[in-house]
Amino acid sequence: MMESLQAKAEYTLELNALNKSYGKSQVLKDINIKIPRGVIYGFIGENGAGKTTTMNIICGLKKPTSGKVIFRERELSYDKEREAIGYLPQQPKFYSYMKVHEYLDFILSLSEAKGKAFSTVELLSIVGLKDASKKTIKALSGGMLQRLGIAVAICNNPELVILDEPTSALDPEGRREVMNIIKSLKERGMTVFFSTHLLSDVENICDYITIIHKGEILSSTTLASLKDKYGACYYEVKFGNKIEPKSYPSFIKNINIKDDITLIYTNNTLTDERDLFNYLLSLNSPIKAFTKKEVSLEDIFFTIINGGNQNDL
Ligand SMILES: Nc1ncnc2c1ncn2[C@@H]1O[C@H](COP(=O)(O)OP(=O)(O)O)[C@@H](O)[C@H]1O
Ligand SMILES: [Mg+2]
Repeated sequence: MMESLQAKAEYTLELNALNKSYGKSQVLKDINIKIPRGVIYGFIGENGAGKTTTMNIICGLKKPTSGKVIFRERELSYDKEREAIGYLPQQPKFYSYMKVHEYLDFILSLSEAKGKAFSTVELLSIVGLKDASKKTIKALSGGMLQRLGIAVAICNNPELVILDEPTSALDPEGRREVMNIIKSLKERGMTVFFSTHLLSDVENICDYITIIHKGEILSSTTLASLKDKYGACYYEVKFGNKIEPKSYPSFIKNINIKDDITLIYTNNTLTDERDLFNYLLSLNSPIKAFTKKEVSLEDIFFTIINGGNQNDL
């Protein structure tokens, strides 16, 4: 199931055969990920899949049981290169009695990347908190807190930003704002690696995705090639009488009949939908309803984690 990314791409970060065990329980199993420079990379998986553990290892907060983190084509040195990687933890903590601008001043005063770092005013503008800069942190909404967390993560103007579930606790408006900020980080040349279990977020902004399930990587590829492989659309047909297709034309990959709904998966040799209509008419049953459906990332995700292939979609 594992597909290799483009051989020629230049990678910001590579995870090389990472394993992590707690006692007898192995929570990461041979994790290999290559993150090309300047992309938004989604890391998706259900709760407990191993996303936070992987991100903690990248940031040097946990040690892998075995395996390597390669950054700038060498094993990552946490002493020398820490400022080049920004991190937003899943549950960021702040000094809530401080005002937003005071807190960012304080964080920048601790920064190891003086000269390369942003100013407080720049950070406020990137994360859209200019108007809230004089607010006390405890008065911020969930979305504003998450944006403050992103400001802290990028305060050193890092090459790579690791965001652990930046949108999961937010309402749709807050999620949209955070998504737009993530896009703007890419426009500034940063590489963003973010985890989520919300597939619509990934679908909207990611160039690449990796699916992790029970500590194992099931797929690592571009969203486009995933859609290509699993088909971008399928057809839902309601026939008046039961149909029993014994064979079908080569542009049909699979037909799945569930109660009165027939799902038809086609491949890219179907270039003219009239061919499909002709086939449906040849089945000699009244057609009560016909709908063309887009395959969502959610459909693909569940197919992959259930160990299936596109025929099970
Ligand atoms: N310190 C720990 N000790 C034992 N097990 C842990 C520890 N931290 C995480 N785990 C286990 O590792 C697995 C992966 O957790 P985590 O990386 O937090 O997943 P995710 O972020 O995808 O929800 C889970 O089964 C979790 O219970
Ligand atoms: Mg987590």
